[in-house]
Amino acid sequence: MPPPSLRGRPSSVTCVTFLFVDAPEDHAGGRDLRDLRDETVRRLAAAGVPDPAVDAELLIGHVLGLSRGGVQAKLVVGGTVPEADAATLESLVRRREAREPLQHLTGRAAFRSLELAVGPGVFVPRPETEQVVQLAIDALRATAEPEPIAIDLGSGSGAIALAMATEVPHARVWAVENSPEAFEWTRRNVEEVAAPNLQLVFGDLATALADLDGRAAVVISNPPYVPADEIPRDPEVHRHDPEVALYGGPDGLDVVRVLSTRAAELLHPGGLLVIEHAETQSAAIAAILAADGWRAIAHHRDLTLRDRATTAVR
Ligand SMILES: C[S@@+](CC[C@H](N)C(=O)[O-])C[C@H]1O[C@@H](n2cnc3c(N)ncnc32)[C@H](O)[C@@H]1O
Repeated sequence: MPPPSLRGRPSSVTCVTFLFVDAPEDHAGGRDLRDLRDETVRRLAAAGVPDPAVDAELLIGHVLGLSRGGVQAKLVVGGTVPEADAATLESLVRRREAREPLQHLTGRAAFRSLELAVGPGVFVPRPETEQVVQLAIDALRATAEPEPIAIDLGSGSGAIALAMATEVPHARVWAVENSPEAFEWTRRNVEEVAAPNLQLVFGDLATALADLDGRAAVVISNPPYVPADEIPRDPEVHRHDPEVALYGGPDGLDVVRVLSTRAAELLHPGGLLVIEHAETQSAAIAAILAADGWRAIAHHRDLTLRDRATTAVR
């Protein structure tokens, strides 16, 4: 039935009125969403982007203010993208074709339950680290200490420290970072998440937090561990991750050696050290830890069954 204001008018007029109301959305111009999505996937694939469909939908979602699921729902029903948004997308797609990291274009990186701010100057947190943090979180939850102390050495975006602080609220967490550029991002994320049990320290992991010596339950680090002459293949990594976040000296283990010494001072007896590393480094790291007197050295695999973390007990 037509609305009250139209009752009694000739039905042809009613019809024309409704068509007019629907018209602006259908004919406002803009790009067809499905065409734009398919074209973006093709361009990113041609540029060698590893997951072109994922990146295309996340970039479109970023421009339209939608989640990836929201974009996929819109793809099912069909729709158009306004010209202004299509132009914004075009500039982002060009940058992604040049292999700028997706996270630098959206300004955000997902990490466990967090969405962290990232950009030039800070290491983009990786999915494998989400699993490594679980080892620290499990240890913090298992200890009978009422307020176990956890320390993240080389905090970058703050991903590890913030995950521990938010997921184990009774823990007291410290984050340490010594790159001024990265520290700006650590500070920003710490402020955004506002975990009351997290403290941030600018300093060298070799010497920071002397007042916590012998008191920590967990020390965790995802240190720079790439050997100096092994340049990572992906342009997103070798052009955009900071060198201080990647390279760990001739064999990649310079910072691991420091960690082994410093964590032994920070942890109380029975405390746990967690180190992320490359799949080829577990034997060398076990040898470093064993020489420094660590107990119960164990390696942990990622979802592709590669050894990517080592734990040891003080
Ligand atoms: C591979 S990134 C890891 C960042 C973050 N923890 C993560 O997992 O995403 C290594 C971080 O350690 C920092 N770093 C390197 N050497 C350091 C040192 N001597 N003291 C403190 N931080 C250091 C780097 O600046 C970088 O932010």
